[in-house]
Amino acid sequence: MPGDAQFSLVTYAAVSCKLVVRLKISVIGTGYVGAITAAGLAKLGHDVVCVDVDKRKVDLINSKTPPIFEEGLPGLLGEVVPSKLAATLDFALAVRNSDITFICVGTPSAPDGSIDLSYIRSASAGIGAALKGKPGFHVVVMKSTVVPGTSETVAAAEIGKASGKKAGKDFGMAMVPEFLREGKALEDFFSPDRIVVGTSDEKTRKILEGLFSSFSCPKLYVDVKTAEMIKYASNSFLATKISFINELGNFCKTLGIDTYKVADGIGLDSRIGRKFLNSGCGFGGSCFPKDVSALQHLMKSKGFEPILLDSVMEVNRTQPLRMVDIAEKRAGGLSEKTVGVLGLAFKPGTDDVRDSPAIPIVETLLEKGAKIVAFDPEGMENFKRKFASRIEYAKTAQEAIDKSDVVLLVTDWPAFNSLNYGSKSVIDGKNVLDYESRKKVKNYEGICW
Ligand SMILES: NC(=O)c1ccc[n+]([C@@H]2O[C@H](COP(=O)([O-])OP(=O)(O)OC[C@H]3O[C@@H](n4cnc5c(N)ncnc54)[C@H](O)[C@@H]3O)[C@@H](O)[C@H]2O)c1
Repeated sequence: MPGDAQFSLVTYAAVSCKLVVRLKISVIGTGYVGAITAAGLAKLGHDVVCVDVDKRKVDLINSKTPPIFEEGLPGLLGEVVPSKLAATLDFALAVRNSDITFICVGTPSAPDGSIDLSYIRSASAGIGAALKGKPGFHVVVMKSTVVPGTSETVAAAEIGKASGKKAGKDFGMAMVPEFLREGKALEDFFSPDRIVVGTSDEKTRKILEGLFSSFSCPKLYVDVKTAEMIKYASNSFLATKISFINELGNFCKTLGIDTYKVADGIGLDSRIGRKFLNSGCGFGGSCFPKDVSALQHLMKSKGFEPILLDSVMEVNRTQPLRMVDIAEKRAGGLSEKTVGVLGLAFKPGTDDVRDSPAIPIVETLLEKGAKIVAFDPEGMENFKRKFASRIEYAKTAQEAIDKSDVVLLVTDWPAFNSLNYGSKSVIDGKNVLDYESRKKVKNYEGICW
């Protein structure tokens, strides 16, 4: 902080009429979290360099082009590159020339469902090598979602080993979990519900208090392990809410009850809330499935039986397949039938198809011999990496409908509500069609309604 000789690079700058700490920051990984973190911090007035091993992403950022689809990001990169934000492949240079390093690399699932920490290990070893011989205190902030204990026993340990420095004395290790929603990521960056900061030494805490001083949301300061668990608890709770309403929705359908009205009714209870109570074809994305799985695995490895989380995942495994069952019944078998799949991204507003419900749906349709014509406004390029030539990609949503015997609505892109479905059989997995639009479709059925 100012007056702290070891933290000499800190200056103060007035941004948006607020006095904020201006720092030199490096961000490791320029994916969904890294790109938003880097651009957001640059907009706040910090000097940011982001690093990736993927040259394509580095070149894109330096040419003011987002490496991901996210609303508002093109304009923001246009504003901050190159004056406040640059991207590089030079890991060591970026870390050495910064005061704080954010780790934003992926933490995917290993084949057994546990967390794969290989990217964390290699990024941490890289940070350690870069810090070797660097004078002054350096703060390393874990933004990647990692199971409790990882930041200290894996990341800080790797950094210490490669740098010869001591955590808490020469460098600070913090965990600041990321809660952004893809599609609303910039809104969430600038107006978060809360900021959770996990630290184990006072100096790191003070530095991060300064960094986050311009945010007016509630801030919770805890220890590192607690911050790591808060992220898993948050995602697991939201996943539980979704699987709860999906199971209930499946049953409501058999009773002829509108599950959305039930959700409205219970959502008005302030203890419950209406969000994440939309019955549908299940959760996907780069976080919920892998994070619940990592927590289940961690619990099992410590001798705990995650009874509730096992059920949450089982409901979610079977939920997208209900779409295929309904399609099969309606079409009288799927062999040689053409199925239109509208929506490949795991939710609207993103091009992210990781663990999207569209994946098991398409896999099962193919197993059953169906032909598939798919469309997504943003997710087709990413989906093609998994299903290149095995399915046809339409140029428009209407083309996919026109070519199909049955249409499955898998992502709730608003534009899908105002298409001409004519007499096609439409199976809605995300409550895409509103009550008026449904009336125009002769053969409409919702997954849970
Ligand atoms: N995507 C989300 O909505 C979201 C939300 C909250 C938390 N998270 C968590 O944040 C982390 C990152 O997620 P993401 O979606 O941004 O992942 P991503 O796969 O989109 O991005 C990770 C990036 O890190 C880069 N990378 C990997 N190893 C590197 C290295 N050694 N040096 C430099 N770059 C390296 C990759 O090339 C990639 O560009 C994960 O732990 C995830 O669980 C994601």
